Amino acid sequence: MSNTEPGSPANIGTQLEQWRSQIEQALAAALVFETRVPTPLHEALRHAVLGGGKRYRGLLAMALAADLSVPTERLLSSAVALELIHSASLVVDDLPCMDDASRRRAAPSTHAAFGEATALLCSIALLSRAHERVAQDAGLIPIARAGIGEVLAHAVGAAGLCGGQYDDLFQDGPLGVEPLIDRYRRKTGVLFAAAFACAGIVAGCDPEVQSRLQRAGERLGVSFQLYDDLIDQLSSAETAGKDVGKDATKVTLATVLGTEAARREAEAGLALVQTEIKALSREGYASALVSAMAARAASFLS
Ligand code: IPE
Ligand code: IPE
Ligand code: MG
Ligand code: MG
Ligand code: MG
Repeated sequence: MSNTEPGSPANIGTQLEQWRSQIEQALAAALVFETRVPTPLHEALRHAVLGGGKRYRGLLAMALAADLSVPTERLLSSAVALELIHSASLVVDDLPCMDDASRRRAAPSTHAAFGEATALLCSIALLSRAHERVAQDAGLIPIARAGIGEVLAHAVGAAGLCGGQYDDLFQDGPLGVEPLIDRYRRKTGVLFAAAFACAGIVAGCDPEVQSRLQRAGERLGVSFQLYDDLIDQLSSAETAGKDVGKDATKVTLATVLGTEAARREAEAGLALVQTEIKALSREGYASALVSAMAARAASFLS
């Protein structure tokens, strides 16, 4: 097959790039407010979200939607919400009382640029805006709007990202491989699972397919976090665009497994994700995106 035909890798790459730019534009639009917002807070919101970020969570929602034969515009509000929530979580993750990180996306972290109090308010405002965008999306049928709202709220909550971040920060609970995988599922997997779930909801997938998508998303998040742990150990701040060495005093899945086994575990997880999404979808956009994510992560480690 020539690589200019539909579905060829070249066209998939172009399509992913188009979706990325749609997400970027929609994120900028989501940070325009109809009524007055204090200027420094508004600047902090824009700083936290725009001008960086790979947009993987939003892209996964759109790519899987295309694979499930759903018009991708219907996933744009979900993609925006996922990326606003993810950015909000990074603002909090970088705070001095959390990871105390000074750089993010090749720029000062939000509290480093705007102060802690503004960063905290910025994070809350981003979460709110995420839910507002989904609630306002007239292109979604009410049941899909409600379902996406619930998925996003649950992902961030105490049983999801907040609980996972708590355990990660305080090293709470057992530190064996399985408990750490569970922690990674909650701190990172939940947003990847939510991305797949949003596509599944809009596509009207049945509960069995939804739970398969949920597990695949969680697994993808665990592999992604494992690569991130390895990047923290092995890469430089300049290459990664954020502080590295932040996990040096922590027990992580990468330290428990050791570098080589961690890498193998991340690759094995991604292989399972690929098998599952190929079985559930037609076009191969999500699968191509997962391959690109893996290749980018691996390039930091070579
Ligand atoms: C960073 O996520 C936080 C982790 C879950 C490891 P990304 O690497 O997706 O961050 P951005 O959005 O591209 O900056
Ligand atoms: C947690 O992981 C990221 C979130 C779930 C918000 P890290 O603390 O390892 O993320 P980075 O390395 O700062 O991006
Ligand atoms: Mg952290
Ligand atoms: Mg961190
Ligand atoms: Mg990290």
